[in-house]
This record gives sequence, structure tokens and C-alpha cells, in this order.
Amino acid sequence: MQPTEAWDTLNPQPEVDTTAWRIFHDVTAGVWVDHFDGHWLVQTRENRFPEYLKGLAQGVASSIHWRPRDKAASTAPERVWGEMEGNRFSVVENGAKFWIDFDSGYSSGIFLDQRLNRRRVAANSRGGQRILNTFAYTGGFSVMAALSGATTTTVDLSKTCLNWTWDNFRLNDLDPEAHHGVRGDAIDWLEVFAKKGRRFHGIVLDPPTFSRSGKKIFRTDSNYADLAALAAGVLEPGGWMLCCANTHRLGLREFKKDVFEGISRQGRSVVSCDTLAMPPEFRGDDYLKSLWVVVG
Ligand SMILES: C[S@@+](CC[C@H](N)C(=O)[O-])C[C@H]1O[C@@H](n2cnc3c(N)ncnc32)[C@H](O)[C@@H]1O
Repeated sequence: MQPTEAWDTLNPQPEVDTTAWRIFHDVTAGVWVDHFDGHWLVQTRENRFPEYLKGLAQGVASSIHWRPRDKAASTAPERVWGEMEGNRFSVVENGAKFWIDFDSGYSSGIFLDQRLNRRRVAANSRGGQRILNTFAYTGGFSVMAALSGATTTTVDLSKTCLNWTWDNFRLNDLDPEAHHGVRGDAIDWLEVFAKKGRRFHGIVLDPPTFSRSGKKIFRTDSNYADLAALAAGVLEPGGWMLCCANTHRLGLREFKKDVFEGISRQGRSVVSCDTLAMPPEFRGDDYLKSLWVVVG
């Protein structure tokens, strides 16, 4: 398999205190390489490993694992070069630590394209605040908010993800007992929080494109206004919402319209709205849309 772009250019470490980033990307050939503290996770569009990566990895990485994109997400990547002791290790991102597990299927522990959003959550959280992280996966946003002193509530359908979240808290010397975590449907929990009068100073909405919980289905492209309305209903006046949509089927204008519609359904107003860019090394395709909305 031949590279089609500047194949010998690796993306440099993006920030100090960061050991995980997208180090190489050949958009045309369909090759994506993520660097996790010296261990490369390679994804390819074709079912063939790009051998030239072994040369690129010399002196930069200690192992390469590879998974073609069409393999079931649950398939663990195969080690194709170098050495790695065990598959669980930690990385650092802007000073925060996260557990990575190449055997975990689905994803390896953190989505690297959310790095700048995690940093923004840390910068906008502080002691005395309550931050809600829905569809939390391994709790990356919760860790960032908690490291800034906020009290966090983490919601995810998966018990494994919640346990992973607490492992990430402990890795950062944060006490899980001082925070809240609930397993279940984020939409159900937003309704419960509204009924109980619980209010948050910041809310992260980063749902999957499609989700099924019991008989209920959530689609980012058709149900985002409902989700934004529920979130706006439990947000303190002047609070922020980080709204993300990871789908080609929803354009930025439409996405913004959905979020604004949800907020106005609660009789609330948008004070400001910034569109957040993906990290610069994610070139080619702005599939991840992120809005930072302050709600009055
Ligand atoms: C795209 S990931 C979210 C990524 C995450 N926000 C992050 O920090 O990168 C999807 C997560 O949503 C969870 N999930 C899917 N449907 C859900 C639902 N209806 N309610 C709560 N969590 C859900 C999954 O278990 C998974 O951990």
C-alpha cells in the first residue's frame, strides 16, 4: 500500500503535557494513526497494513497495533510491530491522565478529536460548580471538570464506562466518592434531574449518532432539539452547554438551528454561541461539530 500524501511528515506533539494525539493521517489513502504514549493505533480503510508505517515509527514509537475500519468495532487491534507489555496503560492530555486499553473494542479509552473541547471544559469549570457529563463514555469531560474543582455528575448507559470513569478519577488522584455517576439513558436522567430540581452550571452533550435504550431511539440528526431542550431545562441561568454532533448527516447550520430551537422551547435565550474547531492535526473532514453555548 503506497502513501498518497506527505507520508514522512508526522504531526508534532500538540501541547506540553500531552502524550496522545493523531500523529499521521493520509486522507486519500484512508490511513489514520493515533499516538498513545509511544504506541501507535493504526486504522485503515483497506484491509491491508501500510508497511511504510514501520519505517516511520522507528525511533518514535515502540509498538504498532492495526485494525481495518470495516472490522467489527469489538475486534481488538492486532500487534503488527514492536513490543508492548499488556494492553492497558495511561496517557497524559494537558496534564490529565487517562487509561487506554487496546483490547476494549469500540474505542481505546479517549476520543482524541475531543482534546480541545476537554481543555475548554477544564477552563470553564471551577470549585462550587456542578457539571453534568451525559453520554460520558470513560468520563474524559468529567475528569477535566473535576480537576478544575467542580463537582461532576456522569451519565452513561454502560456500567463498564462508568467503572472506567472512576478508574480515570483515581488515576488523577480524584475521589470518586465526591462525585456522582449514574448508569442509564441520558434522556431519562435529564427528565429525572428536571423533576428533582437539580441544576447544573455546565452540561456536556456528546451523544453517539444513533442510540437505542430499551424501546427508545435517539438519532443525532433528528432528535437533537429535544435533547438540547431537556438540557436547557436543568441549566443554571448563565450556564454553558457544550453540544457536539458527530455525523455527516447534520450540517453545522442545521445543528445550530436544532440546539437554538431546544433552548427556546424552555423559554431560555442564547447569550453567546461559539463554533469550536477540531484539533489542527485532524485534517480533511470536519465531521465533528461542536458548539459552546451560554444560556440566559
Ligand atoms: C460517542 S461516545 C461519547 C463520547 C464521550 N462523550 C467522550 O467524552 O468522548 C458514546 C457513549 O454514549 C453512551 N450512550 C449511548 N447511548 C446512550 C444513552 N441513551 N444514554 C446514555 N449514554 C449512552 C455509550 O455507552 C458511549 O459510552
